[in-house]
Amino acid sequence: MTILSVDDLSISFGGLAALSGVSMSVDEGTIFSIIGPNGAGKTTIFNCITGIYRPSQGSIRFQSIEMVGKKPYQAAKCGIARTFQNIELFSHLSTMDNLLLGRHIHMKTGVFSGAFVPGWASKAAREECLHRERVERIIEFLELEASRDIPVGALPYGTRKLVELGRALAVEPKLLLLDEPTAGMNQEEKRDMMFWIRDIRDDFQITILMVEHDMNLVMDVSDEVMALNFGIKLVQGRPSDVQKHPEVLEAYLGKD
Ligand SMILES: Nc1ncnc2c1ncn2[C@@H]1O[C@H](COP(=O)(O)OP(=O)(O)O)[C@@H](O)[C@H]1O
Ligand SMILES: [Mg+2]
Repeated sequence: MTILSVDDLSISFGGLAALSGVSMSVDEGTIFSIIGPNGAGKTTIFNCITGIYRPSQGSIRFQSIEMVGKKPYQAAKCGIARTFQNIELFSHLSTMDNLLLGRHIHMKTGVFSGAFVPGWASKAAREECLHRERVERIIEFLELEASRDIPVGALPYGTRKLVELGRALAVEPKLLLLDEPTAGMNQEEKRDMMFWIRDIRDDFQITILMVEHDMNLVMDVSDEVMALNFGIKLVQGRPSDVQKHPEVLEAYLGKD
């Protein structure tokens, strides 16, 4: 069953077409990778799906809901979470607090909505307990216990990437977008990250759409791959077929 369906998506920046008529469909429960050289338009697709950019043309349907025109927080409420190419965390806050921020969209007893109603404080305390429990489970799952109370700015790079993944999980998404989850990691960290990604799909039944440069990892972990170049889709298919595709080889080898 299709969970995300992108149809004829186009967007330009100052006359430069970042995406030209891109269509793709992602099946529920799969790991789907987008590959392509720098500037191909990979991050732009993520920004369109999450409401950061508004495409000039095309449609993005997530579980039959049209996402074009939705704001980023609405995309999150619909069940889409993401990590960023460059880590986006509050560096002075602890791992725990960064993950709790991921719970924000699930919080009902906010100060503004509830502080004037009798019984608000105890209700809010109960709710906070529940959110902490959920976050503790994610910390345990990603084996981040040792980093729980440390400001994330003081953590090593690979751990910060994992905290960002944890924050996205705290949203409890149905679809998780990962923009270069292993960028800047060494081989061992990359392998670990791929295990987490597989586990997230298997244990939480979250569909994963990711942008990744390491071809070995992409081929190893993906059910489906789409190759993009200069904002144009080259091919979508099984990893082994995409890898062999002449236009993909050309784009990667830079043949003239
Ligand atoms: N906000 C923006 N303003 C201007 N140009 C942009 C913007 N976002 C993306 N682009 C351009 O769109 C193209 C695709 O960018 P991007 O999606 O980031 O590529 P990728 O993630 O595949 O490396 C690039 O030429 C980039 O410069
Ligand atoms: Mg990018």
